[in-house]
Amino acid sequence: MKLMNEKSIGKVLQVTGSANISFVSTQYYAGKFVKLPMDHIAQGITLLGEVTSIDAVNPYFEKAATVRYVEEADESVTSQTVFVSHFRPLAYLKGGTPYDSSFPPSPGSRVFLADDREIQIALGLEDDGVSVGSLLGKENLSVKLSINKLLRTHFSVLGRTGAGKSFFTKGLLNGITNQIKFILLSPTGEYNDVSDNLDGTLYKGSEITFPLELGYLSMIYGLTMREQIIFEKFYKGLGEKDITLSSHQILTRFRDWFMKQRSPSESTSLFPDESDSSHRRELPPYGDTILSKIRQRDVTFAKPALKIPFEQSAILDMSDQSQETQELLITHVLSNLLQSYKKSPGKRTLIVIEEAHNFAPSIQTTACKDKIVQVAREGRKLGINLCLISQRPRHIDQTVLSQAGTLFLFNMQHPDDVQHVLGISPTYNPDMPDTLRTLDVGQCFIIGEATRRPIVCRVSFS
Ligand SMILES: Nc1ncnc2c1ncn2[C@@H]1O[C@H](COP(=O)(O)OP(=O)(O)O)[C@@H](O)[C@H]1O
Ligand SMILES: [Mg+2]
Repeated sequence: MKLMNEKSIGKVLQVTGSANISFVSTQYYAGKFVKLPMDHIAQGITLLGEVTSIDAVNPYFEKAATVRYVEEADESVTSQTVFVSHFRPLAYLKGGTPYDSSFPPSPGSRVFLADDREIQIALGLEDDGVSVGSLLGKENLSVKLSINKLLRTHFSVLGRTGAGKSFFTKGLLNGITNQIKFILLSPTGEYNDVSDNLDGTLYKGSEITFPLELGYLSMIYGLTMREQIIFEKFYKGLGEKDITLSSHQILTRFRDWFMKQRSPSESTSLFPDESDSSHRRELPPYGDTILSKIRQRDVTFAKPALKIPFEQSAILDMSDQSQETQELLITHVLSNLLQSYKKSPGKRTLIVIEEAHNFAPSIQTTACKDKIVQVAREGRKLGINLCLISQRPRHIDQTVLSQAGTLFLFNMQHPDDVQHVLGISPTYNPDMPDTLRTLDVGQCFIIGEATRRPIVCRVSFS
């Protein structure tokens, strides 16, 4: 048998059920993949697994009686250290193919290092797909994602600030740009260079205008039915085409229009900045509340409004806008996209939302949260996928986050984040919290639909 020619690295020490297995070795084999011959089931079967944690043990100290006689000078003691490694079974293999079994290995059986091909099979690493890096500790095993599998569900990229989320997302978008178009909604300008490499158009938040239509104005200003009745009269008077109006201009026009409707004798302190108090006129309650609502929204309306062509990829850099306007922009883009795809689904679209915890937070509400929830719920059957990026997973709306079928998890320190994320993880094993806490920058734990098994990837794009 082939194994006989290889050098074993240790022996199985303890087997408690088929999942709790440990082996002893005289060297340190952290993070390695090893295999155990399972000839007691059938000839040529091996159990391949991963070393998850290691304890260093000195058998000399196991006998309490001997410890008493050990002195500093006794050098033979340190050389007796052995390592007890915990082994997590991944797959049974026979002749290079997976084999269905759950039989435990025998204590005392030998342990060997697994080769790359065996690791690839056991982890179910894809031969084809978009490469996002290599298996941690195995530079020659590349991690490829099947885009079909990835896009079966929504996905999320989570981890602390500076852990490598944006770097990964940019690389992934580069890799999939010929199969899918994307709309990237970013509150910072960090993705602006993506449009150079990819076939996409970069928009600044200030370029996006909302349609100057009664429905839109009422929706954005949050007008009540009664306010709408007054506002509609004003709106009909606007009557112009090819016009762009900021909220401030609308405010001025509405105020002027409204004052014309009133008798000149009434006075008010609504406009204390107006020097000539004799011109001050009181607005009835509706005019007053409409004005304060207009004042709160700093957006621009236009007739006709700028249309983002959904046939192409788009990057929206909203860094020049307030949080509130960013929320309105997201609502605007998502509503239009949903509407357009409900009429006739276009090319598959990936919506990427950076800082997702600000737009679909768990506790508060935002202007765009409902739309994001709607995309999370209804998007996939229309051909729309959602990718949420966040450094505060615990603050993202649970409904939205739980729709993610694949999680790309980067270093995460806060126990609440770790707990929250693992709570929605499709698989769980007890080492996951530690794995997340100890990932370096650019290392990513991938769980879910896109890979057959959870794997740790060293992200790189060459
Ligand atoms: N896989 C990687 N390889 C090389 N550099 C990386 C990698 N991941 C991240 N970096 C670098 O680390 C820094 C932080 O990464 P970034 O993706 O911006 O973090 P995050 O978006 O999670 O806050 C950046 O300078 C980035 O270039
Ligand atoms: Mg980032």
